[in-house]
Amino acid sequence: AVERTLSIIKPDATRRNLTGKINAKFEEKGLRIVAQKRIQLSDAQAGAFYAEHKARPFYNDLVSFMTSGPVVVQVLEGENAIAANREIMGATNPANAAEGTIRKEFAESIEANSVHGSDGPEAAAREVAFFFAGTEIVG
Ligand code: CMP
Repeated sequence: AVERTLSIIKPDATRRNLTGKINAKFEEKGLRIVAQKRIQLSDAQAGAFYAEHKARPFYNDLVSFMTSGPVVVQVLEGENAIAANREIMGATNPANAAEGTIRKEFAESIEANSVHGSDGPEAAAREVAFFFAGTEIVG
């Protein structure tokens, strides 16, 4: 089925001017960017976005990292977009990411791993709504 998923190009990638190269990976694999904006996350926004990780030891560092520079939030649309995007991104830890994936090519570390993608349909719906009004998404 055609799905939508929330993607974030993280501060390590915007800092190195990799937005276009990362978007090319999505488009080459058949995902369409149906909404996109470059924003600076506040502490409160980043904290709320990653609320499910609040108890994890890396939470505070993650919030600092995600607010350390601009991010590009985007909605990707396509056949099985949620799983397709997870394949295009590669494993969370770039050391485990497959050849040709975004994280293998561009990620600096398990934290500065260049991209975020929703991990399932429920998260996708929640995360898309976190950043975008329906009228901002043009399929
Ligand atoms: P993301 O897919 O955005 O979801 C949670 C983020 O936490 C993850 O990518 C990484 O950027 C970051 N992170 C930092 N350390 C870890 C870790 N040990 N395990 C998982 N995620 C981590």
